[in-house]
Amino acid sequence: MKALVLSGGSGTRLRPITHTSAKQLVPVANKPVLFYGLESLADAGITEVGMIVGETAAEIEEAVGDGSKFGLDVTYIPQERPLGLAHAVLIARDFLGDDDFVMYLGDNFVVGGIRTLVEEFRASRPDAQILLTRVPDPRAFGVAELDADGQVIGLEEKPEHPKSDLALVGVYLFTPAIHQAVRAIRPSWRGELEITHAIQHLIDDRADVRSTVIRGYWKDTGNVGDMLEVNRTVLEGVQRRLDGDVDEASETVGRVVIEEGARIVGSRIVGPAVIGAGTVVTGSYVGPYTSIAENCRITDSELEFSIVLRDSSIAGVGRIESSLIGRHVEVTPAPGVPSAHRLVLGDHSKVQIRS
Ligand code: G1P
Repeated sequence: MKALVLSGGSGTRLRPITHTSAKQLVPVANKPVLFYGLESLADAGITEVGMIVGETAAEIEEAVGDGSKFGLDVTYIPQERPLGLAHAVLIARDFLGDDDFVMYLGDNFVVGGIRTLVEEFRASRPDAQILLTRVPDPRAFGVAELDADGQVIGLEEKPEHPKSDLALVGVYLFTPAIHQAVRAIRPSWRGELEITHAIQHLIDDRADVRSTVIRGYWKDTGNVGDMLEVNRTVLEGVQRRLDGDVDEASETVGRVVIEEGARIVGSRIVGPAVIGAGTVVTGSYVGPYTSIAENCRITDSELEFSIVLRDSSIAGVGRIESSLIGRHVEVTPAPGVPSAHRLVLGDHSKVQIRS
């Protein structure tokens, strides 16, 4: 069994975090979301991975390399334009051969991995198996309609009036039956060959398409609350590890990860929390469910239930909670201007200020 991992896309969506980088590299607990997917493929016993890359190919290749650090053998397959998920299957035909495969969208996160699902698929080999999850607003997803026995009877891509709240998760299990289906379909209104339509084609041909409803699913929809929640869920599972430097005046409580090269000076860190390599925390408090990435400076501040991306600094600003702070951000007090806020905020930023 092989895997086809999709890490293309334009990477230009104007969200706070995908603004400047590939969406598959959005960090969850200081690790790119794509890495969790690759680890779960390795965990499911898969080694041969075809990686579809687009505009952000260089960034993805730099992060993943030849895949050996994940125990994988990665072959890069360039997609000249984002022409759809079914198009990705088309151009991967030589790589996939006649093997069964998992198609994994690199910006999707499945809590707990996919090992059991892959085992079940290997044992029963339906023509295709899809994963579904209940979401509050399914309009941004493919949506499945099931009959009374739980059998998939219809799939729609991003419907205006969804027939259920069951969204298609970006992890699909296929036999080679999918190849004929991806050749049979036409581009959708958004100009893409939709995998949703290819699977619908299988259903129309009375192929055996099964579904499993899962919980613990996340993808970056630009919703900061969701991102803080998935960060929290992953931090729940970290083990205490202090590889960096913690001075005597500091205290670390519970499941705290201090990466090598990080320094904690006169501060209190209460887990679960991770502090990235090269980050210096001085005279500060870092509370539960906080991820601070590499090369940040946290000085005379308090931070809780928050994510700080790399190369940012926060100094002398009191307490910050439930916040997502991007890369190369500076948060400082405004000296001598007690009643005015001076802000430089990127597109689509959200700021809450005491009024
Ligand atoms: C794609 C699929 C959609 C699925 C989603 C999951 O959407 O077309 O059916 O629900 O991935 O991530 P896209 O990310 O291309 O908008």
